[in-house]
Amino acid sequence: MVCSLIWPWMATASSIDEASLARTPPMGWNSWNHFGADVTDADIRHAADALVASGMAAAGYRYVIIDDGWQGQRDAQGAMHPNAKFPDMKALADYVHGKGLKFGIYSSPGPQTCAGYGGSLGHEAQDARTYASWGVDYLKYDLCSFRRSMDGQSDTAQTAMMKAAYRLMRQSLDATGRPIVFALCNYGWGRVWEWGAEVGGNLWRTTDDIQPNYESILFNAGAQQGLERFAGPGHWNDADMLEIGNKGMDSPDMERTHMTLWALLAAPLIAGNDLSKMSADTRDVLTNAEVLAVDQDVRGTPGRRVMQEGPIQIWARTLADGTQAVGIINTLNHSLTAKLDLHALGLSSPVPARDLWQHRDLGSLDSKHVFDVPSLGVVMLKLGASKR
Ligand code: GAL
Repeated sequence: MVCSLIWPWMATASSIDEASLARTPPMGWNSWNHFGADVTDADIRHAADALVASGMAAAGYRYVIIDDGWQGQRDAQGAMHPNAKFPDMKALADYVHGKGLKFGIYSSPGPQTCAGYGGSLGHEAQDARTYASWGVDYLKYDLCSFRRSMDGQSDTAQTAMMKAAYRLMRQSLDATGRPIVFALCNYGWGRVWEWGAEVGGNLWRTTDDIQPNYESILFNAGAQQGLERFAGPGHWNDADMLEIGNKGMDSPDMERTHMTLWALLAAPLIAGNDLSKMSADTRDVLTNAEVLAVDQDVRGTPGRRVMQEGPIQIWARTLADGTQAVGIINTLNHSLTAKLDLHALGLSSPVPARDLWQHRDLGSLDSKHVFDVPSLGVVMLKLGASKR
């Protein structure tokens, strides 16, 4: 008698709707920005615990992602095993799933990852099957040493090589029948935003690595300018993981600026701090429901910088209910006042306004209204009457 075992995720490959995997920008936590390659099984369990205990899970953060540093050796059959820091990957995934969360992992299309661990080159289908058997729901696939094989090739040839490598892993993931979010990480090379969705990416990094300082936050946000049209439900520009709560993010105002920009950009929100030691301020920044609602807006249209006057930047995003989310960013290390030109924003005046960080209705405002914007801080507003 032939006995077949059917797991719930064992649908046919063709039944996976890749775009439905990330209808809104993925939210979660990744080990890299705080733990680096030293990450352990215990760190991941503590992160999952803290995600739930802090209220972040309830606020929408779902994916717990192990970045670089989990890989051990391949066995005689070529299967990748975790290193001694991760004694049982399936048990760890079960633990994360048991908390109502999703489980993510990391690899590279090259022979080595960026931290020098084994990559997936030549083992794509096998690795995808291994991940599915562990219960992986999200894969970050980082170019790293694959770049060496691109050396000396024309730009066109390099782009074709990256596309083929990412498509191969997407197909391998789909062949397992398990729905797995696919996060492309190639630092924006080859204008990845133009082909990331085509090769099955649900998100793609557009820049080099973020750092825990104000300049890096502003730089990464600014580098999204002009990329709005490439993102939408199912496929997102990734401005990199959050640095909120990490050393170097010196004030809640800086953290609010980081969060405001990522929400206006419809960027994935992947926290990168030590959740078990987070301050109340950091938790509040990460879990502000009105700000998260902007990031997760179902229309999925990223915003952009619409104005810059000296140190003041105005960013705006149109939301599904017809209102506009607006960020007034002060890049000066001193508080400033600013006004909003409602006409330039396409709004009639006066306009109903709500302060999203403060959870406060401001009544109807006109273009003469003066906002106080703190040093390296932000005022985030929702403007207009909901058309829903
Ligand atoms: C970098 C990547 C980082 C992190 C690191 C791990 O290339 O941009 O986000 O994944 O590799 O080695």
